[in-house]
Amino acid sequence: MSILVPPIKCQGIKTKLVDWIKFKITNINGIWYEPFMGSGVVGFNIQPKNAVFSDTNPHLIGFYNDIKNQIVSPEAIKEYLEIEGKKLFIEGDSYYKEVRARFNISPNSFDFIFLNRCCFNGMMRFNSKGGFNVPFCRKPNRFTKSYITKITNQVKNISNIIKSNNYSFFCDSFEDIIPSAKKNDFIYCDPPYIDRYSDYFNSWSEKDELKLFELLKNTPSRFILSTWNHNQYRKNIYIEEYWDLFNIDTKEHFYHLGAKEKNRNIMIESLIYNF
Ligand SMILES: C[S@@+](CC[C@H](N)C(=O)[O-])C[C@H]1O[C@@H](n2cnc3c(N)ncnc32)[C@H](O)[C@@H]1O
Repeated sequence: MSILVPPIKCQGIKTKLVDWIKFKITNINGIWYEPFMGSGVVGFNIQPKNAVFSDTNPHLIGFYNDIKNQIVSPEAIKEYLEIEGKKLFIEGDSYYKEVRARFNISPNSFDFIFLNRCCFNGMMRFNSKGGFNVPFCRKPNRFTKSYITKITNQVKNISNIIKSNNYSFFCDSFEDIIPSAKKNDFIYCDPPYIDRYSDYFNSWSEKDELKLFELLKNTPSRFILSTWNHNQYRKNIYIEEYWDLFNIDTKEHFYHLGAKEKNRNIMIESLIYNF
């Protein structure tokens, strides 16, 4: 099935796992809750009629609210990337750093997508003060005509989905969102993977895992939780400790670190669900 790709990239993005997740989801009569929205690729491919998307990263939520409020429109993004892309082409790394510095002083959705789409490996990483700190991808000609068209179309697709449905975007932590879900609602959770990579917006402790477990154990809604199961070196000990109470499906997935074949890491992913 063809997957709709959103304009924002982030670590742990589920583009390659959407079909697997989607297959498990039927009949959403109530509200779709996605409390760890990230790029939003899961919800935007499910396209429920009513949805509450949330995340603690204010830049992601700000971006989608700006699309909803038509501040970020396909036309505005195209024009912005054409102008900024030319400056990047001429000045390269020093211009990238200039945009990153101004974003860290006064963040806005346009500079956010610029940085997201020309930083190293499309990473989203913030330092301990919440400043974006990913280096440049070192391609001054990053914003070619076709790349700008691709991003503009991604914004257009998401904008059309948001316009034709009833979606809200909140900058909140999961514990403030999950308790609102009722019997006919559906919660999809994709928290930062415990015991794995972490940064300012992606720190995740055992306390968080336990809090999430308690909330999901007590929710009247159906839920799916994505988490890692094991790789060749170790296993996710929290599956036995907490999540074994529910149904668990697994699937092999390759994570690419850079372009080299030898940097493909195999991970067994899990979907944990209560229905
Ligand atoms: C693995 S990513 C989600 C990826 C997303 N499913 C996708 O496919 O793009 C985890 C997200 O959880 C967010 N997050 C971290 N701690 C959170 C918290 N306490 N409450 C809500 N969101 C949180 C991060 O900002 C990040 O966007």
